[in-house]
Amino acid sequence: MLKKIFGKKNSSNKNAKTEEEILALIDRDRLPKHVAVIMDGNGRWASGQGMVRSAGHASGVKTLKTILRAAVDLKIEAFTVYAFSTENWKRPTAEVEFLMKLFADSLARELDEMDELGIRIKFIGRLDGFSPYLQEQFDNACRRTANNTGVKFNVAVNYGGQDEMLRVMQSLAKEVQAGNVAPDDIDVSMIEERLDTAGVSPVDLVIRTSGDMRLSNFLIWQTAYAELWFTDTNWPDFTKAEFYKALLDFSQRDRRFGGLSKKK
Ligand code: FPP
Repeated sequence: MLKKIFGKKNSSNKNAKTEEEILALIDRDRLPKHVAVIMDGNGRWASGQGMVRSAGHASGVKTLKTILRAAVDLKIEAFTVYAFSTENWKRPTAEVEFLMKLFADSLARELDEMDELGIRIKFIGRLDGFSPYLQEQFDNACRRTANNTGVKFNVAVNYGGQDEMLRVMQSLAKEVQAGNVAPDDIDVSMIEERLDTAGVSPVDLVIRTSGDMRLSNFLIWQTAYAELWFTDTNWPDFTKAEFYKALLDFSQRDRRFGGLSKKK
């Protein structure tokens, strides 16, 4: 079906739809409430252009701005991106330092505009792993936009899904130890209110760029029933048109949540 709509991958294909044409095909009542993005392929994109890996991250911020703006225009409720995993510290020091500076600089540059667009920013993950300066920047952005009512924009930094579950378990274990709750009384809501994404609806759609088809420890509880969408495009080359393709594909899927198809 999608092949018919979009034709072959080759962009010179005469059947390829424009951004506006794809957008027009999307049933706005069937948009995902929560989109999560694994922005992969920055390094490969840069190497492919003979540039250092960090140049790919800098270019990735531009893509993020474009796609976040599209999410705002479509009034998507929540938009979560994987910006730095608990494992990313293993990268070369220069790349890690570049990313830290990029987070601080991008926030300083974009915060006013994000605030004006009504975006509510939250940084999720083990934030105490960052420098006091960066923690202050994260905290300032969260506090400043906390009362905004637009897109809930979650930026996962020093984040790992298993680490998040570990923190939830430790918190619950302390409640049990203090005698506040019996183990058998622990329920799903007590887990969800301790997640970094507490108060945000579960992920409906995960988009991962750059060809790998895995979740890489991203939002492992929240993606239990998420639809997955993969593309070979590296994140810096990801466009609004491709974002719309993912949303259109999502809008045409039959989500059953373990039940029966409504179509039958
Ligand atoms: C994965 O590509 C990308 C990252 C680890 C970093 C993504 C971060 C940004 C785009 C910056 C976001 C900034 C803000 C302010 C939220 P990769 O390096 O793993 O690419 P590769 O797989 O080709 O090596």
